Amino acid sequence: MLDPQIAVSAAGAQARSAPGHELRLEHISHSFGDFVAINDIDLHIAAGELVALLGPSGCGKSTLLRILSGFIRQTQGRVLFDNDCVDHLPPNRRGVGIVFQNYALFPHMSVRQNVAYGLEAQHWPRDQVAPRLEKMLELVHMLPFAERLPRQLSGGQQQRVALARCLAVDPKILMLDEPFGALDKNLRLDMQIEVKKLHREYGITTILVTHDQEEALSMADRIAVMNRGRIEQVASPADIYDHPATLFVNQFVGTTNLLPGRIATSDASGTHVELPGGFLRAGAGRLAKGQEVVVSIRPEQLRVEREGASGRLSGTVKMVMPMGAQVIYDVEMPGGIAIKITQSRDSTRMPLASGSTIHFAPVSAEACHVFPAQAGMSKGS
Ligand SMILES: Nc1ncnc2c1ncn2[C@@H]1O[C@H](COP(=O)(O)OP(=O)(O)O)[C@@H](O)[C@H]1O
Ligand SMILES: [Mg+2]
Repeated sequence: MLDPQIAVSAAGAQARSAPGHELRLEHISHSFGDFVAINDIDLHIAAGELVALLGPSGCGKSTLLRILSGFIRQTQGRVLFDNDCVDHLPPNRRGVGIVFQNYALFPHMSVRQNVAYGLEAQHWPRDQVAPRLEKMLELVHMLPFAERLPRQLSGGQQQRVALARCLAVDPKILMLDEPFGALDKNLRLDMQIEVKKLHREYGITTILVTHDQEEALSMADRIAVMNRGRIEQVASPADIYDHPATLFVNQFVGTTNLLPGRIATSDASGTHVELPGGFLRAGAGRLAKGQEVVVSIRPEQLRVEREGASGRLSGTVKMVMPMGAQVIYDVEMPGGIAIKITQSRDSTRMPLASGSTIHFAPVSAEACHVFPAQAGMSKGS
C-alpha cells in the first residue's frame, strides 16, 4: 500500500547546513465536528531536542503530529518553525520527515529506489544522489540489502529503510509516530538505540510519539505527557518520574501505589495525611485540612521496617515475589487496600513470608505525592 502521507521535503535542501530547527506551538486547538481532539496546546521544542509526546491511545498525539506536519489544519492557534509561521505551507513545503508505525515503503521498489525516491522528488543533482544513498543506507546498516524489495525484509529492516528515506532529504524536523510499535521487543530496543544515536550524531530536532512510557523515559530529552487533548506536564524524564505534576502523569508513568487519605495538618513545614491504619508525612503542599486526597508512593520508595512506629504503616503480606535482585511484596493494608513494596533482596535476611505482618514507611516525605481525590475514583485503585 502506498501511503499518501509520505512527507518529502522541498525545503530540506536549504536546511542542510543547520541540523537543529526550533518548533513552537501556540494555543493549538483542533476539533473534529463537536469533538475537541486538541485543547489549547502550547509547546516549545528547542533546536536539536528530542521530545516525546506520551499518552494513552486516543489522547491526540497523532492529530498533533498531523497538525505540525501540515496534513491537518488546526482549528485554532499557530505553528512556528524557527519563529516563522508555517500554517500556510502544505506538508511538502514544511521540511518535515515522518516515519509511521506501518512502514509505508513502496512495495514494488527496491530499498535503494525507496530511499532515492525523496531525493529525486526534490530534484537533487544527479551526481549527489548516489553518494547520498550510500551514506544513508550505511547509516541504517542496510547497504548489504540495497537491492531487496520490502517484502524480503524483516519489520525492523523495513523500518530502517523508512528512516533512511526520511533522513535522506535532510528534514528540518523528524517526526516519528509510534515507529517501533510493530516491532518485537528486541528489535524495538535495537531501533531505539539506533534512533537515539542518529539523533545524537545529527542533532536533528525530533518528535517521538509513543504510548510506551519506557520508550519515552529512555529516549527523550523531555517528555510531554498528553491526556484528552491536553498536555499535563512537559519536563525531563527524571522530573516526570520523580515530580509528577498531576495524578494522571503519576499513574501513567511508572508504577505507583495510590492510598486514599485525608489531610490532617498542612503548613509550610509539611503535610500530615491520615491514611487507613496510620499517618504519613509528605512535603509542603497547598491542600486544606480535612480535604480528601490520594497519596501516591512508588513501590521502590517504600522501605520495610522491623517494627511499627509513628509515621509507619503496616499490612499483611499476601504474596512474596522474588525477582532476581529484588523482592516484591504484595501487601493488604487495613480497609482492604492492596499495595506493592519493592525491596532489594538482602541475602542475610529471609524475605517475610506470606501471612506475616509487614511494617513499612516511605523513604522520604518527598516520595509521597499528594493529589486531591478525584470524583469517581475507587478506593485503593
Ligand atoms: N479524522 C478524524 N475524524 C474524527 N475524529 C478523529 C479523526 N482523527 C482522530 N480522531 C479522534 O481524535 C482523537 C485523537 O486521535 P489521535 O490523535 O489519533 O490519538 P492518538 O494518536 O493519541 O492515539 C481520538 O478520539 C480519535 O478518535
Ligand atoms: Mg496515534
